Amino acid sequence: MDFTQQYGRMALVCGGSEGVGAEYAMQLAGRGLDLALIARKPGPLEETASAIRAAHPDREVLARSVDLTAPGAVDEIRDLTGEREVGLLIHNAGASSQTGDFLDSDLAFAQALVAVNDTAMLALVHHYGGQMKARGRGGIVLVGSFAALVGQPGLATYSAVKAFSTTFAEALWFELKPHGVHVLSHMLGLTATPANARHYPAMAGLGEDSADIARQGLEAIANGPVLYAGGGEDMVKAFASLSRGAAVEQMYQAGADFRD
Ligand SMILES: NC(=O)c1ccc[n+]([C@@H]2O[C@H](COP(=O)([O-])OP(=O)(O)OC[C@H]3O[C@@H](n4cnc5c(N)ncnc54)[C@H](OP(=O)(O)O)[C@@H]3O)[C@@H](O)[C@H]2O)c1
Repeated sequence: MDFTQQYGRMALVCGGSEGVGAEYAMQLAGRGLDLALIARKPGPLEETASAIRAAHPDREVLARSVDLTAPGAVDEIRDLTGEREVGLLIHNAGASSQTGDFLDSDLAFAQALVAVNDTAMLALVHHYGGQMKARGRGGIVLVGSFAALVGQPGLATYSAVKAFSTTFAEALWFELKPHGVHVLSHMLGLTATPANARHYPAMAGLGEDSADIARQGLEAIANGPVLYAGGGEDMVKAFASLSRGAAVEQMYQAGADFRD
């Protein structure tokens, strides 16, 4: 597929400074798209923007430090992209930096997960998706998680916000299909990202390779509504054969490494 025909001219990558988001961005520049990158920390954001500009000097690469939990974040992003045609939205930001039982955790932390994964995402999809629908072309990728497959004790809010993101993507995929806009929930399992290494040092370097994950996502955008990274389909089948309670138990056991 010619990405510039379907998704030109610019891709907006929320959470585009490192890991999967940075890989999506670099590979999209290689497929001819300009980029707008959003993340909180200016350092890694500028490093990634500079690396893309160096590798693809013909591409325009915008970068702005925006916290998606902040009021006005979406207005800032709209201001950054201005009148440019954003034909692809990759919503990648959204990992949980903490685990713990919900009632032992900070409510503000849970609310921030909702804000990044769902509230900001909805506003971005409403704005940019509306423009894509009017143009009759475009794409939306919402990066999800296997944690959405069943409630994960210790990550209750995270599981829930990712379930919202996936079911939302599924419905949107159907609604936008007749309008030439592709929608994909790209559901990941353990993936080697800088954020994961910072949050869970015991897991540093473990999991799928971010560049491979981004490549698989780009190849699958037109084949939504859901792409499971390695092992995801097996988990879906295993959970389907269990009672919901037994599936939760199994998810709890699977999360042991994050708790220890
Ligand atoms: N890594 C895994 O094992 C794994 C497994 C399953 C699913 N996932 C999903 O994959 C995606 C990427 O995860 P990740 O491990 O790379 O961690 P992440 O913490 O989601 O970081 C990814 C990017 O998002 C940015 N970001 C995070 N919070 C933000 C905020 N409030 N406002 C703006 N930007 C923000 C980060 O930069 P700053 O920190 O500078 O803001 C970074 O560029 C997430 O949606 C996550 O849920 C990851």
